[in-house]
Amino acid sequence: MTALRLCLRHEPRTTERRTPVVPSDARRLVDSGVVLTVEESPQRIFPVEEYEAAGCRRAPAGSWASASPDTVVLGLKELPDEPVALSHRHVFFAHAYRQQPGAAGLLGRFAAGGGALLDLEYLVDDAGRRLAAFGFWAGYLGAALAVLRHRGRLPAPLAPTTKDELDAALRPAAGEGEFTALVIGALGRSGRGAGTAFRTAGVDATRWDLAETRDLDRPALLGHDVLVNAVLATAPAPPFLREEDLDSPARRLRTLCDVTCDVGSPFNVLPVYDRTTGWTEPVRRLREEPPLDLIAIDNLPSLLPRESSADFSAALLPQLLAFGTGAWGRCLDRFHQACREHGIAEGEFRHD
Ligand SMILES: NC(=O)c1ccc[n+]([C@@H]2O[C@H](COP(=O)([O-])OP(=O)(O)OC[C@H]3O[C@@H](n4cnc5c(N)ncnc54)[C@H](O)[C@@H]3O)[C@@H](O)[C@H]2O)c1
Repeated sequence: MTALRLCLRHEPRTTERRTPVVPSDARRLVDSGVVLTVEESPQRIFPVEEYEAAGCRRAPAGSWASASPDTVVLGLKELPDEPVALSHRHVFFAHAYRQQPGAAGLLGRFAAGGGALLDLEYLVDDAGRRLAAFGFWAGYLGAALAVLRHRGRLPAPLAPTTKDELDAALRPAAGEGEFTALVIGALGRSGRGAGTAFRTAGVDATRWDLAETRDLDRPALLGHDVLVNAVLATAPAPPFLREEDLDSPARRLRTLCDVTCDVGSPFNVLPVYDRTTGWTEPVRRLREEPPLDLIAIDNLPSLLPRESSADFSAALLPQLLAFGTGAWGRCLDRFHQACREHGIAEGEFRHD
């Protein structure tokens, strides 16, 4: 059997410090016969030397584009704009199957090169459960940033930190007032992370999931001081908040953190803003009087790059060791389905 060739690519986004494979797991892959090339990357939380010490090959950033055609390119977030035609199999979070802006263009790039997208969000078990996810840490950070903002202690710009540092900042200072918080999507990975961060901050958050939003009680929602939205919407649903709700005199809500960040998607349950926030300016004021602040950062787990990478890598490792089987087949099928939905013809892909 030919050895699997994997290339761990550099992430073009300068704030992306996470990695889907940490050095200790890279060693496990190499020991099992995988040829693992790791691109140099100035911001990755683990230096490339640690991968070299684990038996990986080293290559310059961006060299995946000229890697042998059977190479599977592994990353986390968006690809660079070049090369336009994508001929390899790419494993990453493409955010392209829920009608997000730019989806058709990206799928077209795969069609142009004959490559394939194996989207990590769709790497699922027989029951459809995600096999590797950053959700817990996304929710943890979403709630943590909301707490810090609400208490007037959120720094800007944001910078990566460690859980110990973050938890120290979260503990309430003497005399700090209490507030109410609501987590929606509370039973999911992000929702559980949010609940945990709120507990660290000394806040017992109200938790809603599908059962509680079926017949949405907006006045109750608006009656909380802080809201963290952590739902994974897979079908259009009535919005949790509309523009008019922000002007409701009954609004107690002051801080809104949208972990879901489905802005631009028809499934968006918070259509009250039109662009995400980022690390430089994490907060955008949606209303002045009374104030309502929005945090909508789409790479939250990157703020805890070491912890979130280690958890993700541990979950992904068994899947990489079984590359091509079971879950990967479903992942490839989902790619072809998305291409069909976009009217991209079958038969143009070489990795079936
Ligand atoms: N901002 C970031 O950095 C970041 C990082 C990772 C994930 N995410 C996003 O966070 C979201 C949640 O991810 P996850 O891994 O926790 O998903 P998950 O599937 O583990 O949990 C989602 C939860 O939402 C609930 N839900 C779905 N629709 C709902 C509705 N209408 N009302 C109430 N509850 C509803 C589900 O029942 C489930 O419990 C996703 O949209 C994901 O893309 C964001």
